[in-house]
Amino acid sequence: MLKGKVAVVTGGSRGLGEAIAYKLASMGAEIAIVDIGDPAKAQPVCDKCKEHNQGKAKAYQCDVSDFQAVKETVAQIKADFGTVHILVNNAGITRDGLAAMMKEEDFDQVLAVNLKGAFNMIRHCAGLLIRNREGCIINIASVAGLMGNAGQCNYAASKAGLIGLTKTIAKELAPKGVRCNAIAPGFIATDMTGDQTENPLLKMIPLGKMGEAADVAEAAGYLAVAKYVTGDVLRVDGGIAM
Ligand code: NAI
Repeated sequence: MLKGKVAVVTGGSRGLGEAIAYKLASMGAEIAIVDIGDPAKAQPVCDKCKEHNQGKAKAYQCDVSDFQAVKETVAQIKADFGTVHILVNNAGITRDGLAAMMKEEDFDQVLAVNLKGAFNMIRHCAGLLIRNREGCIINIASVAGLMGNAGQCNYAASKAGLIGLTKTIAKELAPKGVRCNAIAPGFIATDMTGDQTENPLLKMIPLGKMGEAADVAEAAGYLAVAKYVTGDVLRVDGGIAM
């Protein structure tokens, strides 16, 4: 379904990004992983992607919050893969704390990675997507961006901002044949969420359990091919934000 397409997945060396990379690779896409971590750690993910797509997969070390570094990385991806058809803005961090006590740098850093990082990637990939007259951007937001979450004012603001960014980019790029959607995951078991077995919020999930990375990856696979869907926010949250 995605044979001949090139997908860039930020934060793809573990967690949700890793699962999304496998899903898109299993649909045939070539995969470029952009992650701040050591590319050696992303190598096993690339190897598994290559098993899935029988094609290319490569990792790039880049801090998505760094405008210039993103520009250079996207140029390198273009040199290596030729173009970009699918961009998944998944890289994200948390620096939790109550607003009344939050350090300025914790607010700034979360906004810089989660929101500006997505803008930086879109800014530098947009030309390639537009030139192809088709393409798809998927931003990994969060139910925190829809509902708010005590202790996460920086994170919730970044994810709410990402939803505004998604809808605006959807409107700007629709005439060029490029779609832009967001996924709002709820509680998904990854390194970021850690052990949540005692979290009282779990009782509020109608489906009664945490999600798995593969659940979010399924949604990304759907949005990658849903050619009449743009500007949407797809909740993958067991019903918690309904
Ligand atoms: P994770 O912490 O397991 O993985 C995040 C990845 O992003 C890591 O590989 C990390 O190296 C990379 N990264 C961090 N900062 C970066 C930067 N500045 N530049 C490039 N790469 C960077 O997190 P997880 O759980 O896989 O989350 C992925 C996305 O999904 C995040 O945006 C997160 O906010 C979002 N999300 C996760 C939920 C969950 O329950 N796990 C729920 C809702 C949203």
